[in-house]
Amino acid sequence: MSEPALVALRSASFAYEDGPFVLGGLDFEVREGRALALLGRNGTGKTTLMRLLSGGLRPDTGELTLEGRPVTYDRKGLTRLRTTVQLVVQDPDDQLFAASVGQDVSFGPLNLGLPDTEVRARVDEALSALDIGHLADRPTHLLSYGQRKRAAIAGAVAMRPRVLILDEPTAGLDPDGQERLLATLDGLRGNGTTVVMATHDVDLALRWADEAALLTPDGVRTGPAVTMLARTDLLRRAGLRLPWGVAAAELLRAQGLLTGSAAGPRTPEELSALARDRAAASRIRADD
Ligand SMILES: Nc1ncnc2c1ncn2[C@@H]1O[C@H](COP(=O)(O)OP(=O)(O)OP(=O)(O)O)[C@@H](O)[C@H]1O
Ligand SMILES: [Mg+2]
Repeated sequence: MSEPALVALRSASFAYEDGPFVLGGLDFEVREGRALALLGRNGTGKTTLMRLLSGGLRPDTGELTLEGRPVTYDRKGLTRLRTTVQLVVQDPDDQLFAASVGQDVSFGPLNLGLPDTEVRARVDEALSALDIGHLADRPTHLLSYGQRKRAAIAGAVAMRPRVLILDEPTAGLDPDGQERLLATLDGLRGNGTTVVMATHDVDLALRWADEAALLTPDGVRTGPAVTMLARTDLLRRAGLRLPWGVAAAELLRAQGLLTGSAAGPRTPEELSALARDRAAASRIRADD
């Protein structure tokens, strides 16, 4: 039998008070070790889904499971959930509240009742993973937006979650900031952290994710990112466009420059490398 999903929603429905159902009969799984991108139109329920997965909201019907066991919403059950799954909300100002970055990042580990030395080790580790060790003593309200985003993520990382859920983490970051964040996430994944990210950026999803979940009014469809992000019908319903890399791969295949199961380019650098390889191959043929 295959391993149960690390965290999953089974037939989950949810409506905000006095509102219509945002999510109905939803099945959604996060498997250990995956990089999963969650995409969909504004208002389709990505944030709601993430809050259900991290226990901030409770499904009206259906259930949330952790390693196959239903989550109980008592103190013990929620502690088990929060030490496994951490959510970083989209707006860092909704997450940061302590006077300084160091204090903010230490809040979660302190709350777990960990000894001071362990708290310090976790805070140092999280600050350095996010490249903000130099900001430890800085008042949170004096940080730039990108710095606040990194500080908010550091707070979640300090909990050493097995699943890190990020709601639009790259929105508002400059290109270099986005690259550095992706490198940080690669580092965390290298240490075994499972990462789920909501994003509207199809190019980023194609490049970063191994699985993509497209949320539409008909429900959620999950599969390999390269497959899901080439499904023009689903993309249209999810309010998304074709990723640049998928369009380039189609063109390259039509020109016979990409054959068989060869993967298409996901970045401009990969496209350049592909073009160099093809030019070299045709030079070799010309020399024959
Ligand atoms: N606190 C709330 N109370 C009532 N309705 C809410 C609340 N939060 C969200 N909603 C509604 O639930 C639906 C889903 O919202 P949600 O924030 O999950 O969407 P989203 O996919 O994250 O959108 P976006 O891409 O804009 O972030 C929307 O119709 C929204 O208006
Ligand atoms: Mg949202």
